[in-house]
Amino acid sequence: MRKRFFYLLAGSLTIFLLYGTAEPEKKENKLKQTVKKDHCLSCHTEIDNVPKDFNENDVHRHANLTCASCHGGDPNSDDQDVAMSKSKGFVGAPSKKEIPQFCGKCHSNINYMRTYQPRIATDQVSQYYTSMHGKKLQEGDQNVADCSSCHTAHGIIAVKDPRSTVYKLNIPGTCNKCHGNHELMRKYNLPSNPLEEYSKSVHGIALLKNQDLGAPACNDCHGNHGAQPPGVASVSHVCGTCHASNMDYFSQSPMAKAFQEKNFHGCEQCHSNHLILKPNDEMIGVGKDSKCIECHSEGDAGYSIAKYIYTSISNLKRGYAAADAKYQEVKQKGMNDIDIGFVLQDAKQYIIQSRTMIHTFDSTKIAGKLAEGMGIINRASVMGQKEIDEYYTRRNGFAAATLVFLVFVVALYFKIKDKEKKKS
Ligand code: HEC
Ligand code: HEC
Ligand code: HEC
Ligand code: HEC
Ligand code: HEC
Ligand code: HEC
Ligand code: HEC
Ligand code: HEC
Ligand code: HEC
Repeated sequence: MRKRFFYLLAGSLTIFLLYGTAEPEKKENKLKQTVKKDHCLSCHTEIDNVPKDFNENDVHRHANLTCASCHGGDPNSDDQDVAMSKSKGFVGAPSKKEIPQFCGKCHSNINYMRTYQPRIATDQVSQYYTSMHGKKLQEGDQNVADCSSCHTAHGIIAVKDPRSTVYKLNIPGTCNKCHGNHELMRKYNLPSNPLEEYSKSVHGIALLKNQDLGAPACNDCHGNHGAQPPGVASVSHVCGTCHASNMDYFSQSPMAKAFQEKNFHGCEQCHSNHLILKPNDEMIGVGKDSKCIECHSEGDAGYSIAKYIYTSISNLKRGYAAADAKYQEVKQKGMNDIDIGFVLQDAKQYIIQSRTMIHTFDSTKIAGKLAEGMGIINRASVMGQKEIDEYYTRRNGFAAATLVFLVFVVALYFKIKDKEKKKS
């Protein structure tokens, strides 16, 4: 019985040692072996024919794929004629037109990709053929982006890695290799300044300068693989993925329907696409910087509502400034400023919200919001005035008390003097 137990224990221990400790080593060996056996790379290194974009950190290398996984052939042979022979499945370097299918051999294969990284989507190739790039490649255009234009072919790094050509911060530069090329873009009648404009926009500054990864890069508006400019109907949706309230308000507005009928481009019509600047109140109204007067003129409803909104927002801002001045005075006089501060913060929120709400272009809705904001501003103003009044009441009270006291002291002085006189 004890002997059997001993054998069992020894057996388990052996199994444990074999698997528990040998497993990682086996993995290591496999990696080293494939690299050692990869005669493709060693010969190509020797003859100095390693592709220019080759990078040790390539994801495919890290996943133990070899040159032959993409190009076919036999990586175990050091004889060029054998290794790169058709009979061993060697396909050589794909032509530009063949590249999508070349990558798609694996990337469109769900079952294959699932054995590596189930989270990686498998729709890149089908998406790609819906894009302007894909359509033109099929027609034989040699200038459009294929998979390796955006990803490279031999230095592909995981998308979330900051070294990747398609890491969010690097995308504008990657697209700009072609879209900033004046000669090339002229052939297609396309502007070559998207990056230049984008870099000056709120989005470009947020992403490229402040590294705010919430701001859109080119692909957030155009798609990664399906790269297209958003169409007339979809611009608002593209912007709306991040600016949801603006989109909701605008799509319910009387203008949205008219925009669609007239093929106007939603948000882009007033904000532009690449050079989106920080908006200001002058964009509304009827002054020279107004967007509204590009389409509306004196006498129509849009014009009068634009004027009304501008005046109302200006009133609100003036009211806020006056209340804020009182608040500063209360602070300076050392009176209780805490509650007024909170109410003013609330008022500020209302001003911000009404700038979003103007996208309803509905005077009744905007008037409601502005009235609520004005109510809060008035409350802050009243509170401020009360503290200021209180300050003066206290000061006057103190002055009166001092005066009474002084009169009393003087009276007392004369009384004493009078008494002394009488005594003598
Ligand atoms: C013993 C050396 C040697 C080995 C082993 C070798 N190659 Fe090559 N390879 C070359 C040379 C030399 C060239 C360029 C001359 C030519 O075009 O034939 C070349 C060219 C290529 C090209 C470009 C061909 C084209 O269509 O333009 C590819 C791709 C390639 N090799 C991949 C591989 C792969 C994959 C393997 C392993 C399965 C491999 N090579 C193994 C020497 C080698
Ligand atoms: C992820 C797939 C993939 C892997 C892995 C891969 N290649 Fe390529 N290779 C391509 C594609 C796509 C092209 C053609 C497009 C290009 O050159 O950008 C190409 C082109 C080439 C060319 C001809 C053009 C050039 O850049 O010189 C050579 C040579 C080559 N590969 C060698 C290799 C060698 C050697 C390895 C292993 C270290 C390797 N490739 C691994 C996809 C791959
Ligand atoms: C116009 C540039 C462009 C082209 C062309 C392109 N890609 Fe991409 N690709 C991107 C960008 C940008 C991302 C990053 C998306 C993100 O941030 O999630 C990406 C991501 C990927 C990913 C990772 C997706 C995931 O789910 O994690 C794969 C795989 C990929 N691309 C393969 C391909 C293949 C295969 C092709 C050719 C059919 C191709 N790409 C063509 C720009 C491009
Ligand atoms: C032999 C199959 C195969 C081919 C061919 C292939 N890939 Fe991959 N690719 C993979 C596998 C497997 C992974 C996942 C690696 C891992 O485990 O991280 C991957 C990962 C990627 C990623 C990284 C996704 C991420 O962010 O994690 C990109 C981008 C990519 N491939 C692009 C390409 C492009 C572009 C081509 C063509 C030039 C190509 N691949 C050809 C198998 C392949
Ligand atoms: C290898 C060069 C190259 C790269 C890299 C490239 N593009 Fe392009 N792209 C082109 C060319 C050339 C066209 C013109 C196709 C046409 O209109 O016939 C084009 C067209 C487009 C269009 C359609 C424009 C139209 O005609 O309405 C969009 C949108 C676009 N690209 C976005 C992008 C984005 C976004 C990226 C980066 C993620 C990118 N491209 C990367 C070359 C490139
Ligand atoms: C905030 C969203 C957004 C961002 C970010 C953006 N675009 Fe655009 N882009 C648009 C819209 C909307 C259009 C549609 C223009 C039209 O049809 O009126 C457009 C049009 C284009 C076109 C077609 C040419 C034209 O002007 O009609 C190209 C090419 C293009 N963008 C490339 C880029 C590149 C490259 C980047 C990154 C540097 C980029 N875009 C960033 C929204 C964006
Ligand atoms: C991926 C998300 C995203 C998309 C898509 C997007 N934006 Fe933005 N947008 C932002 C972020 C984040 C900011 C704030 C940037 C900053 O910190 O100043 C911003 C700022 C703005 C501002 C300035 C707001 C202010 O008060 O300063 C305007 C206007 C704007 N976006 C309009 C648009 C339009 C129009 C589109 C579509 C063509 C669009 N955005 C698409 C995320 C996005
Ligand atoms: C690109 C052109 C364009 C711009 C810019 C524009 N509008 Fe309009 N707007 C229209 C069209 C078209 C209609 C549909 C009715 C019409 O023809 O007047 C409309 C309708 C309206 C209406 C509804 C009028 C009614 O009869 O009920 C209001 C309100 C309005 N616009 C306000 C504005 C304001 C405020 C601005 C500036 C922020 C502005 N619009 C900028 C084109 C524009
Ligand atoms: C008819 C012109 C017009 C259209 C269309 C329009 N906007 Fe605006 N937008 C304005 C004006 C005017 C302001 C400035 C308001 C202010 O500061 O008083 C503004 C301000 C903004 C702001 C900053 C204020 C805020 O809400 O935070 C954002 C963001 C914005 N717009 C996004 C959008 C988006 C997204 C769309 C499309 C769904 C859109 N806009 C459509 C005229 C327009």
